[in-house]
Amino acid sequence: MVSQWSASKTALDRAQRSIGGGVTSSVRSSVKPHQIYFASGNGPRIVDIEDNSYIDYVLGWGPLLLGHAHPQVGAAVKAQLDRGTLFGGGNLTEIVAAEKFLAALGWAERLLWSNTGTEAVQIALRLVRSHTGRDVVIKLGGGYHGWHDTVFASVVVYGGGGSAIPHSAGQPASSLADLRVGLYNDLDACAALFAAEPGRVAAVLVDPTSSNTGSVVPAPGFLEGLRRLCDEHGALLIFDEVVSGLRLGLAGATGRFGVTPDLATFGKAIGGGLGASAVAGRADIIDLVTRDTVHSGTFNGNPLAMAAVDATMDVLSTDGVYPQIENTSRTLVEGIRAAAAKTGHTIAVHGIGATALVAPGLPEITGPDDFITADWHWWDDLLVPEMLARGIYLLPHGRLFLSTEHGPAEVAETVAAFAEVFAMLPPPRVTS
Ligand SMILES: Cc1ncc(COP(=O)(O)O)c(C=O)c1O
Repeated sequence: MVSQWSASKTALDRAQRSIGGGVTSSVRSSVKPHQIYFASGNGPRIVDIEDNSYIDYVLGWGPLLLGHAHPQVGAAVKAQLDRGTLFGGGNLTEIVAAEKFLAALGWAERLLWSNTGTEAVQIALRLVRSHTGRDVVIKLGGGYHGWHDTVFASVVVYGGGGSAIPHSAGQPASSLADLRVGLYNDLDACAALFAAEPGRVAAVLVDPTSSNTGSVVPAPGFLEGLRRLCDEHGALLIFDEVVSGLRLGLAGATGRFGVTPDLATFGKAIGGGLGASAVAGRADIIDLVTRDTVHSGTFNGNPLAMAAVDATMDVLSTDGVYPQIENTSRTLVEGIRAAAAKTGHTIAVHGIGATALVAPGLPEITGPDDFITADWHWWDDLLVPEMLARGIYLLPHGRLFLSTEHGPAEVAETVAAFAEVFAMLPPPRVTS
């Protein structure tokens, strides 16, 4: 058991006097018992300011696919640090990193570098509108694609009625005027949106595994059906692979499911812990930036981030890396499932690539519709603090990110903690 978190609570109280809300991303204010302050991380473990060590399944909210302080990434970044961090021109590493990333994808001809997933989605949306000369974009309920005004809608609450429900106060209604909301795994709902506005839809934007609301395998034929609908209506298909990119394999969702979009966005894991993101895809769309479509960003392709991408791609391209991740993920999923079965609690557990999902109160989870009905109060408020006290650092809402550095010892410790906590908690509310 770790000591309690009084120093972190003191730090949070102090932060609230200088940083708005005391946290640097709104979602961190909802974690229980409260945001923890960390001093260091190494491989699969992270250490807080009171010297408590945890097995880390948060991994920076996804990016640390190689774990903390990976030596190869660290060496590349340190070498670049000594040579300078920003040139405001070209650097050769941005080309090498692009070549390696495109080779790993196998289907994309060009990319543009940015810093965050939000920026990559922003330029993707601009490119599809520029290419088609149309404004309307269809996203799917339960999809999170970044926090910019024009697409930050119907992330958790959605009615299937096609219109977008803003996710934050301060989003002007006009910013969502060209956004429509379809349903994940429901081709008819998407077809109806196309039919309602013939010749107006520029693109469908989909997170292939609905990473923020399920991390699921899409229903058979769903991605193929979206591809077909887009082709029939002269629209483009964008995969948001900010989470699934590299976590599902080197070629991401396209490699896994065999459906090729026109553009795909990447972020999180590609930077090995530094801020790097990309939109990749068809040359005729991305090369619009050489004409009238603007892509900007002071820190785009900065040498530090590019050195980290370059090293990350080298590590992940090594033989045996992905089979090992899949093996770790499978052992973890089976262990948690067995622990849940022993208590008789109804808890769905599944894994996809380097991500696992535990949904309390559900027998299985197929996508956002059932995801939003799970007993997240049980997970967030009851289970997460108990697991933290046992040295396991978890995300809210059931998602566990794995890294190449998690191995059998971490899995065994984690499963033992789950078994103990499952046994001491009341059963989660079961959704009928
Ligand atoms: C699927 C998806 N797209 C886009 C984003 C936005 O990425 P960022 O937080 O780097 O702006 C996220 C962030 O969680 C995401 O999960």
